[in-house]
Amino acid sequence: MECLQVRGGSRLEGSLTVQGAKNSVLPILAASLLGEGVSVIRNCPALRDVAASVAILRHLGCRVRQEGDALVVDASPVDRCDVPEDLMREMRSSVLFLGAVLGRTGCAELCLPGGCELGPRPIDLHLKGLEAMGAEIRQEGSHLYGCTKGLRGCDVQLATPSVGATENLMLAACRARGTTQIRNAAREPEIVDLQQFLRAMGADVRGAGTGTVVVRGMTPLGDCEHTVLCDRIAAATYLAAAAAAGGDLEVRGVAYRQLSTVTGVFSEAGCRVSSGETSVRLRSEGRLRGVGPIHTAPYPGFPTDAQAPVMAALARSYGTTVFVENIFSSRYRHVRELRRLGADIRTEGRVAVVRGVPRLRGAAVRATDLRGGAGLIVAALAAHGESEITGLDHIDRGYEHIEGVLCALGAEIVRTER
Ligand code: UD1
Repeated sequence: MECLQVRGGSRLEGSLTVQGAKNSVLPILAASLLGEGVSVIRNCPALRDVAASVAILRHLGCRVRQEGDALVVDASPVDRCDVPEDLMREMRSSVLFLGAVLGRTGCAELCLPGGCELGPRPIDLHLKGLEAMGAEIRQEGSHLYGCTKGLRGCDVQLATPSVGATENLMLAACRARGTTQIRNAAREPEIVDLQQFLRAMGADVRGAGTGTVVVRGMTPLGDCEHTVLCDRIAAATYLAAAAAAGGDLEVRGVAYRQLSTVTGVFSEAGCRVSSGETSVRLRSEGRLRGVGPIHTAPYPGFPTDAQAPVMAALARSYGTTVFVENIFSSRYRHVRELRRLGADIRTEGRVAVVRGVPRLRGAAVRATDLRGGAGLIVAALAAHGESEITGLDHIDRGYEHIEGVLCALGAEIVRTER
């Protein structure tokens, strides 16, 4: 079994250009199926979830090749509409293939997606929206069978601004007759990036980044080129690492306003934060101050994906910080592991109370989900002594060569077999 051995206590100094965004590249790869052209998708991070998406595209008949950091997808030969169960279960965003495959072929056979265990993750909004567009979707156990004689545009009001449902409906709407309006749409930057990719293909999509996305369907979709947005959550994670361990870090490639809720917390915690147009610099003396309550919320609120890394940074602090997790009902599984490192954190329901301690100490811990795993690395970098982190499959789903990035900044981390 692979593990990361982390020796805490080194300051992190230097600069890094952050990887392409996992949560952008996955919907974009699904979108590449919609037309019959060739998509050149640059700045693709080398992640397990990306490899799983490529495997799905190949299974469906696409030709996919890698050219440096670009994936080149030729979707002209698509000849299947089923996604095998083992590939569906690899990750949550495999559900985006439902809208894309239905739109492209008129039928889809999938099963319920996998992904991080963060509590129940229903897909009712995806299904309701696709049904409103004229798809018939039958669920048998964990299998989904969808078919349509032709999707049609309609108005969909999402009960909650779901990122995945917004994306799935945008994809299907590109292949629907007429206009689709998605109201109460998610406003995440990754939705804007998907819109840009779809436009580059020839789709007529507007409104991404606001609460209403409008798609006029059936425009011809052809060859395109696109560069994937940089990953604001990976950026937040590296900033959390520098905040926790102490140091002077510049993160390049990410727009400051996409990170302002996270950097706001680090400023309040005593770090010095400054920004250029597409870079953020953070200087920290290591031990932070507790801050006012942090409520996770849909964008532009504080991102649920940054909750664990930021909590890990505040574990060693003066004072107390309260977290309220409003997006997922069970997103504190990292807390038990942080406690092994000496953190004083109590949870009740959606609330976690972090009483800052003067010192964390190295321990053996296990990543139980992607962002929680990243949080363990953050805490281990701030701890005295050596930690051993297992469960790397989770971390590798979303971070490109995380130990290499951190070691280049001065961290002491080795990936090894246990
Ligand atoms: C995406 C991100 C994930 C992030 C999350 C919230 C990707 C690949 N993943 O996940 O990293 O943590 O947004 O920012 O982009 N919901 C329903 N019914 C549905 C769909 C969602 O009730 O049909 C609920 C969920 O249970 C959750 C909330 O809506 O409570 C938000 O989920 P959603 O925005 O859909 O998250 P994902 O798209 O799965």
